[in-house]
Amino acid sequence: MHQLVDPFQRRISYLRVSVTDRCDFRCFYCLPKGYKGFAQPETWLTPGEVERIVAAFARMGVSRIRLTGGEPLVRPDCLEIARRIGACDGIEDLSLSTNASQLARHAQGLYDAGVRRINVSLDSLRPERFREITHNGDLGRVLAGLQAAKAVGIDPIKINMVAMKGVNDDEIGDMVEFCLREGFTLRFIETMPVGDSGRSAGDGHYLSLRQVRADLERRFRLEPAVMGGGGPAQYVRVKGTALRIGFITPISQHFCETCNRVRLSAEGTLYLCLGQQDRVELREPLRAGVSDEDLEGLIRAAIARKPERHEFRERPDQVMRVMALTGG
Ligand code: 5AD
Ligand code: SF4
Repeated sequence: MHQLVDPFQRRISYLRVSVTDRCDFRCFYCLPKGYKGFAQPETWLTPGEVERIVAAFARMGVSRIRLTGGEPLVRPDCLEIARRIGACDGIEDLSLSTNASQLARHAQGLYDAGVRRINVSLDSLRPERFREITHNGDLGRVLAGLQAAKAVGIDPIKINMVAMKGVNDDEIGDMVEFCLREGFTLRFIETMPVGDSGRSAGDGHYLSLRQVRADLERRFRLEPAVMGGGGPAQYVRVKGTALRIGFITPISQHFCETCNRVRLSAEGTLYLCLGQQDRVELREPLRAGVSDEDLEGLIRAAIARKPERHEFRERPDQVMRVMALTGG
């Protein structure tokens, strides 16, 4: 088996699959309110096409897949996609990123399809504020979704909170208490200049996680911790508890040296870096009947073009696409 190794000697072992760029929320830092740029459903890869691409990656050593969006659960056949990926030879780990608005009714189906870990975006525990951030999201449904996921045995459940000055920085302590109580892992994320919404949120509300970490160190006893998975978060544990807190710091401290991932959009575009434009189209070759061997060749050629790092600081205007296209 030939592994996928990029020009900077990073082994690619992880593929993030966006199944739709649509979402039932409109978080202000992600999607503009009247956004009209959504992909048309005929351009979405079918479950069979997603399966073919995942199988090709798996033959080249990718063992971990994350389903993401947009909001993956707004796509009616999301569970079918999950089942096909879960049954793919070589895929050892299948996870999902979701806003949890529809998780309550899908938790069991996801578990049965092989999803064992989820990340849930949750920026506020105050219903009114949550509604404002997400433009009408219902916090109660999200909390019910989290409980359902817990009840079916999905573990770990990670809460992703985009930490923003003047938006939710007064809730950091509450979020720690919430995750402690519920047994969730908590991760803070810095706003990234992806799309105009991401850029303007960052201009007004960027909060360095160094500061958040320093504040937490004053309130809790933290010790270094590890969490498997090879992702970019740096973890600490709250001493004497099971709570792990992760810091995802693309801006204040980038982590590109250990990048292990690429991203597939719903339309079959392979994005080589979240912070760059480099990409390769896979849908057309698929629909033109490409062989498995040639598909692997296209993927290899793409990986050979993976950029060394994002340039969110140096070139914040670079990424025009919205975050919902690639899902973080
Ligand atoms: N900066 C940081 N995180 C973002 N997300 C969406 N847009 C941005 C941004 N501009 C996060 C969401 C969610 C995941 C899909 O990406 O909050 O956790
Ligand atoms: Fe939807 Fe996630 Fe974007 Fe919010 S951040 S609008 S939940 S895709």
